This record gives sequence, C-alpha cells and structure tokens, in this order.
Amino acid sequence: MGSQLRIQLTEQKKEKPASDKLGFGIHFTDHMFSMEYTEGKGWHDPQIVPYAPLVLDPAAMVFHYGQAVFEGLKAYRNQNGEVRLFRPDQNFKRLNRSLARLDMPQVDEALMLEALQKLVSIEKEWIPTEESTSLYIRPFVIATEPYIGVRAAHSYKLLILLSPVGAYYASGMKPVKIYVENSFVRAVRGGTGNAKVAGNYAGSLKAQTEAHAKGYEQVLWLDAIETKYIEEVGSMNVFFKVNGEIWTPALNGSILEGITRDSTIQLLKHWGMPVIEKRISIEELLQAHQNGQLEEAFGTGTAAVISPVGEMCWNDNIMKINGGETGSLTQKIYDSITGIQYGLAEDPFGWSVKVEE
Ligand code: COI
Repeated sequence: MGSQLRIQLTEQKKEKPASDKLGFGIHFTDHMFSMEYTEGKGWHDPQIVPYAPLVLDPAAMVFHYGQAVFEGLKAYRNQNGEVRLFRPDQNFKRLNRSLARLDMPQVDEALMLEALQKLVSIEKEWIPTEESTSLYIRPFVIATEPYIGVRAAHSYKLLILLSPVGAYYASGMKPVKIYVENSFVRAVRGGTGNAKVAGNYAGSLKAQTEAHAKGYEQVLWLDAIETKYIEEVGSMNVFFKVNGEIWTPALNGSILEGITRDSTIQLLKHWGMPVIEKRISIEELLQAHQNGQLEEAFGTGTAAVISPVGEMCWNDNIMKINGGETGSLTQKIYDSITGIQYGLAEDPFGWSVKVEE
C-alpha cells in the first residue's frame, strides 16, 4: 500500500481536549482514513485525509437497508512514549467475517493494518497518556450506491476514525448495574448476532433506554428462543466467578466473538484457572447467588475493557455481587490486560503490537 496510500495533511489542527474531559466517543482527531469500493474495480483510492463530513446521496443504500459494519480497537501510549495496538489483526479478521455476513466485499487485512499504523502514527499526539485513557479506533464500512431496490450494493466506503477516550461508562471503573432483559431480544442463531453489524445495536437501544430509566447502565441479553440462557451485555461479553470456577456463555452463533473475551479466556487458562464456556441459564445464576456462590461478575470489551458488575436485576430479583465492589480476580484481569495493552507487563502471547513512527 505504501505506494498507493495518498496522504493529505490538514493545516487546521483542532484543539485537543483536556484528559479529564475526554468522555467516550465525543472528540475526533484531525485526520481519517478512507477507501472506496466499486464493483468490477475492487477497493481503491486508499487515503488519509483531513477529518470532514461525508457527502452521500440520499438514496445511498446504507440509509435504507442498513449495510453497515464496524470494528472497535484502541491505541495506547505509555510513559516511555511508545504507541501500541492490541491484537489489531483480530479486528480486521472479524471485520471480514462481519462483511461476509452482510454480503459486503472483503478487505485486504495486511493493507488495513498498514494503513492503520500510518494513521495512528500521524495522529500520535492525540493519544492521551493518563491512566485509563487511550485512542479509540473505529473502522467501518457502509453501502454508498444510490439505489433503493433490495440487494447487496455495488459500491461501498470504508473509513477509520480516531477518538481520544477515557472510561466507557460515565461511572468510570465503578462496578456497573445490569438489567436482565426479559421481553426484547438482541439476536437469534442464524441472524447477525455474531457479526459487528450496526443494526444489532439499533435493535438494542429501546431496552437500554428502559433499563437506564430504571437506574441500570446496561442490559444483559438472554437467548431469543427460550429467554433463559445468558448471551451478552450491550457493549461487552460477560463472565461470572461461581464457586471458584469462571463461567462465560459459549459462542453459539448469536454472541459477539469478543477479542477481549478471547484474551481473558486465554489469560485465565494460562494462570491455570478453571474457565468453562457453556450455556448458563439465568435461573442457575440466581441460584448460585442465593447459595452465596456467585463471587464476581465482569464484562469484557474493547471500549469497556474489564468492567466489574456490582448488581444484576432479573424479574425483580436483585443480585448484589461481591457487596457491589470490584472483585480481586476482576481487578487482576484488568491489571494484566491493561498492562499488556500499554506495553508495561509481560505479554506471553505477543498480543501487543508497537506502532512504528
Ligand atoms: C467496542 O467495545 O469496541 C464496541 O464496539 C462496543 C461499543 C462501543 C459499541
């Protein structure tokens, strides 16, 4: 790509936000990456350009039939000034799986990794250095062809935006409260639940708004057939420590294949801990809570990192977990994963990738 990638730098740099005012997904850097796809020609015109609004035809198919997929990863800058990415190859592999599910064209993963390295390196001054801050990276692909018949589009646009962020939850690292949703469902096997598709999130918003009104940060989704088995939380996969074992819902085609989920499982196994991927019913979990065996709960995700869960509510049953405090295993996983992400801890799996400047 070195030779194909066009770079146009802006003269008008924006003011960078103070690190205690970052929030999540509010600020965007000076540049973005974009690339076009045209049927018969493939992906073309990869470029890094000044961040700017898009001009799209109102008939662009993304507005009508929702061909939109996205990814989320982060760049981290440590106190030695090094910039690092965490398993970025996995994000572009998953992007290709999501694209395939929506009948959208595949991207060249090596080319995407190279473009991302370049973009992050150009924007490195935007990467905050304070604890728990990072540069969130949002690659996404949309259908741009102006046409309103129902079929896969013939033209697409891929963009990568960068956003300096703090904690995903407004409450920071404080344990979150989760509402177990009984009537709405997120995804069904054979649908798009395991792809990172914009529509999955659109369908989840009503339940999330209702949960917020009841004082809960996020929704925990149950399976769509029996509304009995735990799937995932709005923006993260979920883990439970029950009587010394660590349980997480097994991937079943409707759960997102989280990269932080996979990393957590690998780390726990590396530490010799019993990790069990299985179908977990909400009744079983309530029972474990009532027996005093539900010791910890936490979510995993790129945005959410490792988020302790302090309380869950299902059918008026309130399950307070570890007295509403962060558990010691949750803290250990958080410290280990973030240590690797920032390039400050031993990285037994070689997950952290240094960005060349
Ligand atoms: C992520 O963790 O990167 C996500 O995509 C979750 C959310 C912000 C949609």
